[in-house]
Amino acid sequence: MLTVRAPATSANLGSGFDVFGVALGTPADVVRVERASRTTITVTGAGSQYIPEDPDKNTVGAVAEALDAPARIRIDKGVRPSSGLGSSAASAAAAAVALNELYDRGRSRAELVPVAAEGEALVSGEAHADNVAPSLLGGFTVVTDDGVTHVDASVPVVACLPDISVSTRDARGVVPDSASMDAVVDTVGNAATLTVGMTRNDPVLVGKGMEDEIVTPERTKLIDGYERVREAALEAGATGVTVSGAGPGILAVCHRRNQRAIASAMVDAFDAVGVESRAYQTAVG
Ligand code: HSE
Repeated sequence: MLTVRAPATSANLGSGFDVFGVALGTPADVVRVERASRTTITVTGAGSQYIPEDPDKNTVGAVAEALDAPARIRIDKGVRPSSGLGSSAASAAAAAVALNELYDRGRSRAELVPVAAEGEALVSGEAHADNVAPSLLGGFTVVTDDGVTHVDASVPVVACLPDISVSTRDARGVVPDSASMDAVVDTVGNAATLTVGMTRNDPVLVGKGMEDEIVTPERTKLIDGYERVREAALEAGATGVTVSGAGPGILAVCHRRNQRAIASAMVDAFDAVGVESRAYQTAVG
């Protein structure tokens, strides 16, 4: 039996909609695989009741199919579905690595990105490699139609996950069709600042570079208490705050010394609007 852990991820980072992604140290999914004549899947852990075990309907089943690697697959979910923390991507990434090794397919991590993304596409209809790429490669990733660029990075973050659900379909439905040239210029500037910040492991530049006036303002309206939580995180020392992926998770970047205070400020702010939440004190890595 082979066991592989793949981490949660946060896509977009504000200014990098559908392009940027980071791997987070926690939470993570753990996938165990054994060779079998046909693929079977069992799912336990966070939100497992919402995840189909039918291989034709599960991301991981699609990955097994793509690698021609039938297996008995056990998924232990650490990343809750519909969290904005790349739940299905973590399972797909872990399964791709595990099955590649189990069947000696010889693909590199980078070569497994399209395999795992294809798995996501078969199940969700759209393939966004901005979650599977960082889950497979770690650090900070830039996904474009031409491929994936990756750098190691280490920046402290708090990922706060409220106990509400926002469907990716709804979150994509509010993305504007167009943007003003001023907004595009600002966003390019912020994305460039963020990228430099990642290469320097600088939370101030990364936080500043997460500002986005095109997509994020529309998505924050779908998250009860977002503004209050953002203000609380900034007051506690966060260098930047944005929606994690399609939400409802919220990502705050910070210096390590402020991490604990930011985590409790975010949870308290959600609490004040009647929403339970959990904060992960983790890091890009
Ligand atoms: N970039 C995607 C989005 C991530 O924000 O909609 C979720 O799959």
